[in-house]
Amino acid sequence: MDIWHVRGGNRLFGSCRVQGSKNASLPLLAASMVFPARSVIRNVPRLRDVDAAVAILSHLGCRVEAEEGELYIDARSVTGAEIPHALMAEMRSSVIFMGALLARCGEARLSLPGGCQLGKRPIDLHLSALRAMGAEISQEGSNIFCRAAKLHGAEIELRFPSVGATENAMLAACAAEGRTTIRGAAREPEIVSLQQYLASLGVHITGAGGDTIVICGASPRESTDFTVPSDRIVASTLACACAAAGGRIILTGADPEHFLTVLHFLNEAGCDIIHFNDIVEISSNGELHAPKRIVTAPYPGFPTDAQPILMAALLRAQGTTHITETIFENRFRQVSELRRLGTDIRVEGTEARLRGVKELHGETLTAPDLRGGAAMIVAGLTARGETRVIDAGHITRGYESFDDRLCALGAEVWIEHKGKGTYENAIEQDQSAAGKQARRV
Ligand code: EPU
Repeated sequence: MDIWHVRGGNRLFGSCRVQGSKNASLPLLAASMVFPARSVIRNVPRLRDVDAAVAILSHLGCRVEAEEGELYIDARSVTGAEIPHALMAEMRSSVIFMGALLARCGEARLSLPGGCQLGKRPIDLHLSALRAMGAEISQEGSNIFCRAAKLHGAEIELRFPSVGATENAMLAACAAEGRTTIRGAAREPEIVSLQQYLASLGVHITGAGGDTIVICGASPRESTDFTVPSDRIVASTLACACAAAGGRIILTGADPEHFLTVLHFLNEAGCDIIHFNDIVEISSNGELHAPKRIVTAPYPGFPTDAQPILMAALLRAQGTTHITETIFENRFRQVSELRRLGTDIRVEGTEARLRGVKELHGETLTAPDLRGGAAMIVAGLTARGETRVIDAGHITRGYESFDDRLCALGAEVWIEHKGKGTYENAIEQDQSAAGKQARRV
C-alpha cells in the first residue's frame, strides 16, 4: 500500500513528455500472440497493467524481453490456452486474450476479468461477437470455456461501441475464414492503433476510427516493429493539473487530436491552449470558470476516464458545472472522498452538480480506482496544506513515474511505501492531527 503526499500551492512550469498509452499497449500485447511472429513494441509505458499482460504472455509460452520502454515478444512458442484466475484478476484487459487465444489456439480457458470497479462491466458483447464467428462458449461460475474448431467470418452488430468487445472481435476475426464486419464499433484511437498493428502483421483490415471495421483474413508476416501512440488520458491529466494549479506547461509527444474535448473544456474554463503537431501548451492563472455542462460519451465524445480528473480541476472554479456520466454506472466514486477537501458536489444517479469553492484544505483520502486516484492528486495540488492519498496500487496501474513528472514541473509530490496496516495508521495520524488542531482552536 502506498501513500501519496501532495503539498498544494505550487504552480507548474516546464515541459513533460507524455508516456505511451496504456489502453493502446494492452490490446497490442494480446494481439502479439495471434500469429507465430516476433514483435518489437516501442514506447510501452512501465505500468502494473503492462506487467500483468506480459505475465499472461509468458504464462502462455511467449518469450518476452523488456528494455527501456521496448518489448521484444516472440510468440512462435505458444504452449497453452489457459489463463489462471490470479492473472485474469489483475486487470480488465485480460479479457482481450479470449479473442487472441481463440484465433491462435482454437480455444480459451479463463475467468472473468478484474479491473476498476466502475459498475457492472458485463462481457455479453464480447461473447456474442465471438459466438457469431462460431465459438462455443460456456460459463461455470466465473470460469469461461471457449472453443472453435474453425472460426468463420460474420456480420457483427454491437448495440454499444464497447472498446473491449470491438478489440476482442478484431482479434478473433484475424483467424476467421471469410469476411467479418463489425458494425457499431468503438472509434477510440486505441482501436486505430490495434488495426495498424494487425495490418503490420499482415491482417487485411480496414475501417478503424469509423463505426464499421472489416477484416478479411491475413497473409501473416514473420515480424513487426510498432510504436505505441501517446496516452491521451495521461496528457489530459497533466493538462488538468496545470489548469487547476496554475502555471504554464508544454506537453511533448502528445496527440492533441486525441484529447480535443478535454482541451475544449479547459479552454472554456479560462486556460490558454496552443497546439502544434505533437506539442500542446497549456497556460492557466489558476482562477478557472466553471463550464456549464460536461457529458461523457464514447470517442470522439468527452472521455469517461477524464471525467474524475476534470472534476478535480474544477473544484475551485467560479460557478457551477453539471456533469453527466453516460458510460459507467459507478464513476463518481471519487466524489465522497473529494468532499473531505471541502468541496461542494452533489450526486444524483448519473448526474453530478459541482459548485466551485474558494478554498480546499488538505486531508487524507482513499483512492477508489485508477482515475479517481489521479483526480485526488490533481485536487491535492490546489488544496491548502498536505493531501494524503492512500492508494492500493491504482495510480501506478496507469501512470508512469507520475510523482517524478509532477515534481519536475514544480509540484511537491512524494510517495511513502508502506506495508499492511497503513490505512489504519494514516487514519490514526489524521485523527490525532485533527485532535491537536481542535485543541489549538
Ligand atoms: N459493456 C456492456 N457489455 C459488454 C462490454 C461493455 O454492457 O460486453 C458496457 C460496460 O459495462 C460499460 C460500457 O459498455 O458501461 C463501456 O465499456 P467498454 O467495453 O467500452 O470499456 P472497456 O473496454 O472495459 C475501456 C478502457 C477503460 C475506459 C473504457 C471506456 C481499456 C483497457 N480500458 O474499457 O479505461 O474507461 O474503455 O472508454 O482500454 C481506464 O483506463 O481507467 C479505464 C477504465
